[in-house]
Amino acid sequence: MPNLALPVGTTLDRYIMRRQNAFPFATGELSQLLRDIALASKIINREINRAGLIDIGGAAGSGNVQGEMQQKLDVIANIRFIRALKNGGEVCGIISEEDEHMIQTGNVNGKYVVAIDPLDGSSNIDVNVSIGTIFSIYRRVSPVGTEATLDDFMQGGRAQVAAGYVLYGSSTILVFTTGQGVSGFTYDNSLGEYILSHNDIRQPANGSIFSCNDGNADDYPAYVQDYLAQCKKQRLTGRYIGSLVADFHRNLIKGGIYLYPPTVKSPVGKLRLLYECYPMAFIAEQAGGMATDGQQPILDVRPVSLHQRSVLYIGSSEMVTQL
Ligand code: AHG
Ligand code: MN
Ligand code: MN
Repeated sequence: MPNLALPVGTTLDRYIMRRQNAFPFATGELSQLLRDIALASKIINREINRAGLIDIGGAAGSGNVQGEMQQKLDVIANIRFIRALKNGGEVCGIISEEDEHMIQTGNVNGKYVVAIDPLDGSSNIDVNVSIGTIFSIYRRVSPVGTEATLDDFMQGGRAQVAAGYVLYGSSTILVFTTGQGVSGFTYDNSLGEYILSHNDIRQPANGSIFSCNDGNADDYPAYVQDYLAQCKKQRLTGRYIGSLVADFHRNLIKGGIYLYPPTVKSPVGKLRLLYECYPMAFIAEQAGGMATDGQQPILDVRPVSLHQRSVLYIGSSEMVTQL
């Protein structure tokens, strides 16, 4: 028998309001920026849910800067996010997986810049498999009142003031950190609100799941092949969705490791440093997990270009350490 008097819970807005003073540079602008991102994600959630009914499935017929085929929803999600961030006013510059160059929002007084992967897991869009959005936020280093500069985005992973992702899965969840732990908010469709569902997420130090594209295994460095052989010997569980957000989220909650090693096709790794690896690494570390490129913590990898790629090993601390 459900408890009819059970409260609905804490909405994202209320949570942000309560915690605002604990946010870095608590001026209220970062709070507003997180709300803008949440709103854009609700709109994208709506589009994704209707994708089979209206003509927004399939390829857009264009390619992005990485030479990858853009899906219509990639393009739509990109437009939604950029519009929300422009209208919000707190952001002076954006970089997106879907745009080669930095985008000036026109809000020269905005104090923040945002790096986004508007839709992660594009290959899963048309087959009703989980997809996501990833974002990373920096406080600008260029003077307020001027346009954003590349330096604003090249501060390195440790300079992120907030990062998060939205997973459009069996339910939609927004997970983010502002550097004081990690919280998760599940979207309640009927209310149109994100409700706090995962307070202070801690990643188990160990787990039984390993996630990689096994089809590439012959390309992997020997130490990765050895590690995977150990995983299989111990009869760990292999799980790979092919959407970083979904694979990461499962491993965050259950314990596990995600690997995207160098391959012949992607010799320096496939995933993008600024809007895939950095934000996920920030969240992992904040939840007690680890993220490395095999040489150093991801957050210490030096950024040199907007769409730079990196190798990524991320997840439960003992598993990443053992690797
Ligand atoms: P995106 O759809 O934003 O381009 O990202 C896809 C990424 C990531 O989400 C996923 O883990 C990985 O590519 C899958 O790559 P493979 O198909 O090479 O395994
Ligand atoms: Mn992606
Ligand atoms: Mn993408």
